Amino acid sequence: MRLLSVVGFSSILFSLSAASLYPRDHDARDYIAVHLRSSLSPDRAAQILGARHEGQIGELEDHHTFSFSKGRGDEIDKLLEDLQARRKRKRHLDKREDEEELNGILYSEKLIPKQRLHKRIPPPPASWAKSRSKRSTQSRAKEAAVARQQEIAGELVIKDPIFVNQWHLFNTVQPGHDLNVTGLWLEGITGNGTITAIVDDGLDMYSNDLKDNYFAEGSYDFNDKGKEPKPRLSDDKHGTRCAGEVAAVKNNVCGVGVAYNGKVAGIRILSKPVTDEDEAAAINYGFQQNQIYSCSWGPVDSGATMDAPGLLIRRAMVNGIQKGRDGKGSLFVFAAGNGAGNGDNCNFDGYTNSIYSITVGAIDREDQHPYYSESCSAQLVVTYSSGGNDAISTTDIGPDSCSNKHGGTSAAGPLVVGVVALALGVRPELTWRDMQYLIVETAIPVNTDQEGWQTTAIGKKFSHDFGYGKVDAYSMVQLAKTWKLVKPQAWLHSPWLKVHKDIPQGLKGLASSFEITEEMLKKNNLERIEHVTVTMNVNHTRRGDLSVELRSPTGVVSHLSVARDGDTVNAGYVDWTFMSVAHWGETGKGKWTVIVKDITINDFSGRFLDWQLSLWGESIDGKIQKLHPLPGPHDHDHDTSEPAPEVMTTTVASTGPSKPSATGKPTNHLDRPVNAKPSASPTSTAVPSGSAAAAATPSTSGLTDSFLPSPFPTFGVSKRTQIWIYGSIALIFIFCVTLGVYFLVQRHKRLRNNPRDDYEFEMVAEDEEGYPLNGAGVAGAGAKKQSQRRRRGGELYDAFAGESDEEIFSGSEDGEKPYYDDEEDGDDEREDDGPKWSEKSRGSGELGSGS
Ligand SMILES: *[C@@H]1O[C@H](CO)[C@@H](O)[C@H](O)[C@H]1NC(C)=O
Ligand SMILES: *[C@@H]1O[C@H](CO)[C@@H](O)[C@H](O)[C@H]1NC(C)=O
Ligand SMILES: *[C@@H]1O[C@H](CO)[C@@H](O)[C@H](O)[C@H]1NC(C)=O
Repeated sequence: MRLLSVVGFSSILFSLSAASLYPRDHDARDYIAVHLRSSLSPDRAAQILGARHEGQIGELEDHHTFSFSKGRGDEIDKLLEDLQARRKRKRHLDKREDEEELNGILYSEKLIPKQRLHKRIPPPPASWAKSRSKRSTQSRAKEAAVARQQEIAGELVIKDPIFVNQWHLFNTVQPGHDLNVTGLWLEGITGNGTITAIVDDGLDMYSNDLKDNYFAEGSYDFNDKGKEPKPRLSDDKHGTRCAGEVAAVKNNVCGVGVAYNGKVAGIRILSKPVTDEDEAAAINYGFQQNQIYSCSWGPVDSGATMDAPGLLIRRAMVNGIQKGRDGKGSLFVFAAGNGAGNGDNCNFDGYTNSIYSITVGAIDREDQHPYYSESCSAQLVVTYSSGGNDAISTTDIGPDSCSNKHGGTSAAGPLVVGVVALALGVRPELTWRDMQYLIVETAIPVNTDQEGWQTTAIGKKFSHDFGYGKVDAYSMVQLAKTWKLVKPQAWLHSPWLKVHKDIPQGLKGLASSFEITEEMLKKNNLERIEHVTVTMNVNHTRRGDLSVELRSPTGVVSHLSVARDGDTVNAGYVDWTFMSVAHWGETGKGKWTVIVKDITINDFSGRFLDWQLSLWGESIDGKIQKLHPLPGPHDHDHDTSEPAPEVMTTTVASTGPSKPSATGKPTNHLDRPVNAKPSASPTSTAVPSGSAAAAATPSTSGLTDSFLPSPFPTFGVSKRTQIWIYGSIALIFIFCVTLGVYFLVQRHKRLRNNPRDDYEFEMVAEDEEGYPLNGAGVAGAGAKKQSQRRRRGGELYDAFAGESDEEIFSGSEDGEKPYYDDEEDGDDEREDDGPKWSEKSRGSGELGSGS
């Protein structure tokens, strides 16, 4: 009976969500999105609001769109304001008869169509003329590779004319520089049973290279509101090219996709302005059938913006993770972004830095970091794309058209999508997190001789430029076959940690630490970390001057943000969440330190206000683990009445090579919350009580009875009191030790500061004084300033860790950019189908007509 009603209910939901797909008329009507308590029916809500119910928002339960006829703009603004004031329980509101029901409106926002998403189309392709010397690999190896390629094509009956140009599938010029996928095909693993949705500018379902794999049921056109996401604008080629990379049919047209027996759907959102409603619906569209969402787009990569999806979209993403694919989670794959040339970084993009997305950067066919591909601590993996004088060959719009110039991170994302499809084909039960594990476990580090690779706590190699390395289809799918599914996701949110201190300029940083105890981890049912997020507020009058790093207890460093020359916004970071995958596998226990820096000495300065640390990972006991609540509009409210716990803040001076925390001055502990209980392992830092940190605790796992080794007397009191007693003793002990260390350090500093010239760090400080002369002029400081800053960055890091983010990122700035600047095709901003390209392409006579 109950089951029946559930079934009935969900079919009602389904029809409602279908209802939300009616055309919107933004010229004639105004639209708002509303989250309703489930007790308030949308019809009744429409009545109260004096609006028309337009249907549910995609697959988001209890989220609905309402509309008003145009011309009531002020009235609607007032209504939304009023609703918000009520939710915040502000006084001075008119008492209304439907007061009680109005409380059932949990959230509301206006829906305005925007064109804020951009295709991550290739930056200017590298010129064919310039070939690098590295190119000439031994010809014998190449000959063998060509022979092997022919053999494979023969065995698999691949007759696709441009298969030989698809070096990303089988590279005969640089053997081994490919996805390593053909071994899987030979095993019969070709994506059977998988469905990928290409969320983009359409998909040419009539292309002879796609039509047999086209999945109409999972497709929709949100731009022109219809079932068929056909490319309609002249530059609607992007989605079709991405689709070809994933699932181009093995036939006699163009090439093959990575998962050439998989299905592919098209969801069109990029060709016109869309509302958050459309976008939220799009990324959940058909989410019981569509398994993978391939997203080669994002906010503009100008290096001057910080743009995150709105609440509805973030909720839809979590909804997809929690309910999509029958609860195993939709797989979101995002292109990292092409803004490296603009100094952009994928942690400034709220899609790529989401824990729910697999962020894919690019390498070129020489395994080098291309000048466009963005780096960041949220980047999981890289794979092949344009650069190194070549691009990706794939399907194009038109019945038999092919493209040989697909590129940018736009082209990298879908290749990983194809590999993910192959893994799903073998193990459909893999969850969204299993897929990320498989990537971490099997990615192959590249260019490990380059700077910036760190060995992580679990012995993996991680680089902000390459993530965990390049994806290897063969080893990933082999591991997928026997992979033991991970337990559900647990998390730990620290309290909001108040800092409120000015950020020193120059070679100093402002550090704030938070200690995670074993107890907190247990309370939160958290066994090991996957993702780490840091949400923070920093006031600054020139945002691009800021950079932030996170140090884990094991010493792994995440560069959460980097200074960006072009980012002159007078805003700082406002509740911005940065993400890192570099701490994958750590236990989380110990001290986490965030260091905020402003290395440019100028008139622009700032203040580090507060931050919150969140650890996300595998649960200890999967059976008791609940799902994380959907993101809320007030998740970041931190002006609560509770006193914010004071954390140790440290000005990290360039006075010693030690870790920042070690030079920490004891702070005034007087204003610690009085209810702070000593934890089992107190330290000198002001660690907020575990209770505050365990806000989202699924259950409190009690301590065992034998919490102390036998030689310690128990005083016949309760465990808690014992902890308190021993904690106090430990605290006193540690206080004394800290005091001793503090005086030692002070003495040491005094000694050091006397003979100024004896220490390299003092040189840094002198240099610093001269800096404003050369570097303070923000405008026109040019290359000199850049190189100086780079060097300074190096010195800064050397001062306390021996690691430079400038060095880490030098691959993109130093190594590749000049090459790009030299290019002949440098002005060829967008792809154009001119003959220039085809003339230059080698052995591509077949291109453009496949039959
Ligand atoms: C590539 O796949 C083959 C099987 O086809 C496998 O033997 C080899 O180890 C893989 N290469 C790498 C680098 O893992
Ligand atoms: C996969 O699908 C293709 C095309 O539909 C079919 O020919 C092939 O036999 C299937 N392979 C497996 C392993 O099911
Ligand atoms: C941060 O900056 C804003 C605007 O510049 C200012 O109103 C606010 O008081 C500042 N907050 C702190 C705590 O300094």
